[in-house]
Amino acid sequence: MGKLSRVALLYISAVVVSAVVLVARGPFTGLRWQYVAFLGILVIVSESRATQLRKGQLTWSSSSAAMLASVVLVGPVGAAIVGACTALGLRRGPSLLQRVFNTSMYALSAYLAGRAFLAFGGHVGLPTERSFPAIIAPFAAAALIHVAANHGLLSGVLWLTRPRDRTSAGASGGGVGLSARLLLSDIGYAAYGLLMAALWSVVGFFAPLLVLIPLFVARWAVAQFAEQQKAYEATVGALCQAVETKDFYTRGHSDRVSRGSVMIAREIGMRAERVEAIRYAGMLHDVGKLGVPTKVLQKTGKLTEEEYAAIQLHPMRGLDIVREIGFLDEALAGIMHHHERIDGRGYPMGLAGDEIPEFARVLAVADAFDSMTSTRSYRGARPVAEAIEELRKWSGTQFDPAFVDAFVAALKREGWQRPEPSVIAADDLAATITAQDHDDPGAPLRVIDSL
Ligand SMILES: [Fe+2]
Repeated sequence: MGKLSRVALLYISAVVVSAVVLVARGPFTGLRWQYVAFLGILVIVSESRATQLRKGQLTWSSSSAAMLASVVLVGPVGAAIVGACTALGLRRGPSLLQRVFNTSMYALSAYLAGRAFLAFGGHVGLPTERSFPAIIAPFAAAALIHVAANHGLLSGVLWLTRPRDRTSAGASGGGVGLSARLLLSDIGYAAYGLLMAALWSVVGFFAPLLVLIPLFVARWAVAQFAEQQKAYEATVGALCQAVETKDFYTRGHSDRVSRGSVMIAREIGMRAERVEAIRYAGMLHDVGKLGVPTKVLQKTGKLTEEEYAAIQLHPMRGLDIVREIGFLDEALAGIMHHHERIDGRGYPMGLAGDEIPEFARVLAVADAFDSMTSTRSYRGARPVAEAIEELRKWSGTQFDPAFVDAFVAALKREGWQRPEPSVIAADDLAATITAQDHDDPGAPLRVIDSL
């Protein structure tokens, strides 16, 4: 959290004060402190080893199962104290303020879950065989309130502390919003809380072990997946870096094309897996430039036919370079065909209309738009409105009209973060020696008629 607004501070204070007041009010009579202590230790251990699902995103821990078990075993106040044990987690990273907020949030949501459990007829204490199935409804209510309170309070603080200068949605969808998948998995994992409480009357303090060991194994698998994702990101990042090192006037272009493609994909309701694939496709669409001679990419004058042919080969070269990278899958078709045109006059295959893979038709729109709204040595960056006009002009001949419409709709809603003009400043020698851009529909490549 950076410098916080007054509203954000008020919000955080309200959450902290509510948690403190509710816990301090008690009652503490009859509270089974040995259970509170044991479950609290479980929360501390879980929180100390939380798994980050993706770089920059939220972490997941198995502590919610222990908190929900405490709802059944020790009631609302006991559950709130167990939730507050989050404060003692050894995880590095969160600032003091984040730690205080998280602790209060967990205490508050555990308390509210406890109240919901009682309100729906639940009885605090060790469940027995006779508690079933009557306990299921109050426990389900408690689990839902627990998840809703956690996600609601966290969404609130994320929204209030979001970066002020944010003008467009992140390509990967991280940041302010909490993923629906995380919400659903939290509800699913809540069931382990009831399992833990139910086993307690049979095996006592071993119950958490029997429940948490499979959970830790599952978390280990999740961590492996997260590691794999990191490796994917690193692979894509390294290839992008290589392209931008070679063709330096397009710095940041791959990232923005990726972002624009994701905006279109989301607008047309593409499923999440495909949106992820098109994000990679956007990052790597020009990877084939690695196979084009640098002197051709950076040539100031007109291109010879040979040089033009070398440029036109870059989609195929791109495919050659990344073909064996398994996770790219559908992205490969996007990389290979992103310069096809709807009227069949594009390259490398001259495909027309629906023959062109959907990913490629999406990429073509985002690619041209970013090229037009970026500074080039032969012209300044065009305004967004002008670039939209240009997309509309070529809609139906160069671009798929449906994706132009989708992009314009998404742009109106989310805005567009243009590259900083200083990125390609006039004094940047690298930028000034480049005179042509094969992605710019307003600046078609010029070929010398005869040698
Ligand atoms: Fe390209």
